[in-house]
Amino acid sequence: MCGIVGYVGSQSAWPIVLEALQRLEYRGYDSAGIAVLDRFGQLRLRKTVGKVDGLTQGDETDYPDGTVGLGHTRWATHGPPTDANAHPLTECHRQIAVVHNGIVENYLELKQGLQQQGHTFSSETDTEVIAHLIEEGMREGLRFPEAFRQMGRRLEGSQAIAAVCQRDPDKVCALRVGHAGGIVVAHRDGQGIVGSDLPAVLPILRQRPGPVAYLEAGEMAEVTRLGVRVFDLEGNSIFKEMRTVFPQDALVDRGGYRHFMLKEIMEQPQVVAGALRGRVNFDAGRVELPDFPFLEDEIRDFRRVVLTGCGTSLHAAHVGRYLIERFAGLPAEVESASEYRYREPFLDSDTLVVAISQSGETADTIAAMQDAKERGARLLSICNSEESQAARLADGSLYMGCGMEIGVASTKTFIASVTILFLLGIYLGQARARLSPEVRRDLIADLASTPRLIGEMLADVSQYKVLAQKFSGYNSFLYLGRGINSAIALEGALKLKEVSYIHAEGYPAGEMKHGPIALIDRNMATLALAPRDRLYDKMAGNIKEVKARRGIVLGVLTEGDTELAAEVDDTLFLPTAPEHLYPLLATVPLQLLAYYIALDRGCDVDQPRNLAKSVTVE
Ligand code: F6R
Repeated sequence: MCGIVGYVGSQSAWPIVLEALQRLEYRGYDSAGIAVLDRFGQLRLRKTVGKVDGLTQGDETDYPDGTVGLGHTRWATHGPPTDANAHPLTECHRQIAVVHNGIVENYLELKQGLQQQGHTFSSETDTEVIAHLIEEGMREGLRFPEAFRQMGRRLEGSQAIAAVCQRDPDKVCALRVGHAGGIVVAHRDGQGIVGSDLPAVLPILRQRPGPVAYLEAGEMAEVTRLGVRVFDLEGNSIFKEMRTVFPQDALVDRGGYRHFMLKEIMEQPQVVAGALRGRVNFDAGRVELPDFPFLEDEIRDFRRVVLTGCGTSLHAAHVGRYLIERFAGLPAEVESASEYRYREPFLDSDTLVVAISQSGETADTIAAMQDAKERGARLLSICNSEESQAARLADGSLYMGCGMEIGVASTKTFIASVTILFLLGIYLGQARARLSPEVRRDLIADLASTPRLIGEMLADVSQYKVLAQKFSGYNSFLYLGRGINSAIALEGALKLKEVSYIHAEGYPAGEMKHGPIALIDRNMATLALAPRDRLYDKMAGNIKEVKARRGIVLGVLTEGDTELAAEVDDTLFLPTAPEHLYPLLATVPLQLLAYYIALDRGCDVDQPRNLAKSVTVE
């Protein structure tokens, strides 16, 4: 979603806020803006449509000087990305500036009330009501922080807000309303900073570990050069425990790669190894999940598992369903989190709900989790952030531990999720006495070989560059797979459409004859996942059906499969491996293909249009 920053200190605010915004840009990049309270106490605003870089207008030395500032990088919800709708937004007298992440759900009602009181609006955003509400409170005689707090009491929805005011120029007020939209606060050496996420506070922590606090829903912070004070919305002071963070935890660095996406794809051998570390005991043939929140007795009482998430995380859930059914013998279902709250799902305390979310902040997933909790289900999250809402809501979490993912298209966190789901499947099977120690030992050994196999696949990417040149001209792709690999087909198609803007559909291959086959011709490319597994013959049949209709097929096959290779137009080979590893292995070439096709088409791989890294609105 959007990224917000607020700074007060001794240094010039502009470069600090700018750096923080650059670090938060993965959250949205439709427009950006900075407000600085200059040394005459005047609010100076600069905005740009598009990315943060546009704010410097080519001259990095030309900026308003002042030691208090706010910044915003936007993923548009209410109103298109224009200068007028870019944050910071102000009220009638341009004395208060506001940045906002989230949605004011009752903004129409608030706006009408404010208009009746004489306020005029200059943007189409929901955010602008926030500035006017503060103005109204101050007009009634409240001080800025009081008016800010009262404003917070009137908002519905989930959001994070920061504001500054000309009439109280040495302070930034920040607020979290509802569960989505985090706020981190840091203070050091007379400088305070608030931001949507940890990378935003790095400009003041620099290279040293430092204390930070996370605001909870309904908490507001008053940040000055002297320190940070936190209150609830009633105005009661709250003691906040500070956590020490290490700057390397939040470092956003391409590590020599041209794009974060490529760096994150290349990190996957370490990601799988990291997800296994401390969770497998080879000698005993046991999976150990110390963070799993339920006892073995409780696991034996589970009657079913429901897996949920959105986008790539939903695709991981599909893989997880197969693994849990296969290894644990438990009925498993997948539910799209964005639809979940509109159903009447049957859940009880014998149901384990597994919510997958790399950010742990996706509004739809959080809503599904809340619903599951209210219905009494047992709740496990698989996420990449220990500070996230998902982690807080769940009874327990299995963390991906793969470092921040900055490329907007998820890659390494998908691999991490699938690895953890693999472990979860074995763990549940072990507790339910479904898997003998020998079988478990074999499965663990297979998993342990995955980092090496993925590493080998990543060693030479030259073939992807060649294939990208050939396939980047196609306007439509079908991705086909069967069984567990049908989920990988969905994920491969999602990756391609996200980063290259080519239309791509993932399908279980058996569904093709029920409709999509009508699309096949010379202009439609089909990527067929046909590793040597139990469904190989069926996939081979589907490939022949496509070829019989003059379709173009790129086969993802097992090395040495000359027979099927002769049927298809082009090939990508997977190493020979036990069939349950193919979902992990087959993901990698699909990511690389999407990446190189997007490069060939000149797309912005790390920040594809219209997307944002974490979607904290419904
Ligand atoms: C796709 C992608 C999105 C996310 C989805 C859920 O590459 O990144 O589809 O997977 O928005 O995000 P999380 O996992 O943070 O809940």
